[in-house]
Amino acid sequence: MAEKELLSLIDTARIPEHVAIIMDGNGRWAKKQGYLRIFGHKQGVNTVRNVVETAAQLGVKYLTLYAFSTENWNRPKIEVNALMELLVESIRKETPRLMENGIKLETIGNMESLPSGCNKTLQETVETTKNNQKMTLILALSYSGRWDIIEAVRKIAASVKAGELEPEAIDEKVLNAALNTARYPNPDLLIRTSGEQRISNFLLWEIAYSEIHFTPVLWPEFTSVDFYRAIIDYQSRERRFGKTSEQFLNPA
Ligand code: FPP
Repeated sequence: MAEKELLSLIDTARIPEHVAIIMDGNGRWAKKQGYLRIFGHKQGVNTVRNVVETAAQLGVKYLTLYAFSTENWNRPKIEVNALMELLVESIRKETPRLMENGIKLETIGNMESLPSGCNKTLQETVETTKNNQKMTLILALSYSGRWDIIEAVRKIAASVKAGELEPEAIDEKVLNAALNTARYPNPDLLIRTSGEQRISNFLLWEIAYSEIHFTPVLWPEFTSVDFYRAIIDYQSRERRFGKTSEQFLNPA
């Protein structure tokens, strides 16, 4: 189906407020063309640019991208270094475009574990873009869902130890507030590319009720059309949050 036709199938009144993406398949895409893995990551940056702009144009308010997981530190050093360099270079180069498009950059993850130059560039762009209103782009860097939950539990335990919080007062709200993602709504839609059907330690707590869209398309080949397809798939689902259809359609 042509891009325009697909776009016309999207209900603009029901755009997911928060979309999270596991960008997978850069390495396989590069290998397929006989290139080094880093070439796939470079191509992946072009997809990031396009998807960020497509999401903002559709009216998505939060877009979270899994750019580097806690487990990615175990990749060969040469690939880790190349990814960090690519990240710094891309953020620097793309900041003017983020400004033009009204996009605010934020990060989640263990930022202190990133090379200091990388962290500095990110913080500069976070500062430069902080008043932008159209969409918030959240990069998950040195992030994993379990890492964030453990960090949150540590903070909560410290409050209990200090006598500021009773153990009985710990509920979902308290845990939510201690997470890196505290200031964002939970993702409505999670997309994973490349045909893998796993969560891979991404937003474990936050995706409890997210709709999940898996696509076989490798991240460097993921286009606006694939993004529209994911939104259309999302809009075809009935989100009941544990209730029955009847309860949901006719609330008491
Ligand atoms: C997964 O593909 C991709 C990553 C681990 C890195 C994603 C990073 C980028 C697209 C660049 C980041 C830049 C910005 C500006 C956010 P893979 O290498 O795991 O693919 P494979 O499973 O085929 O090996």
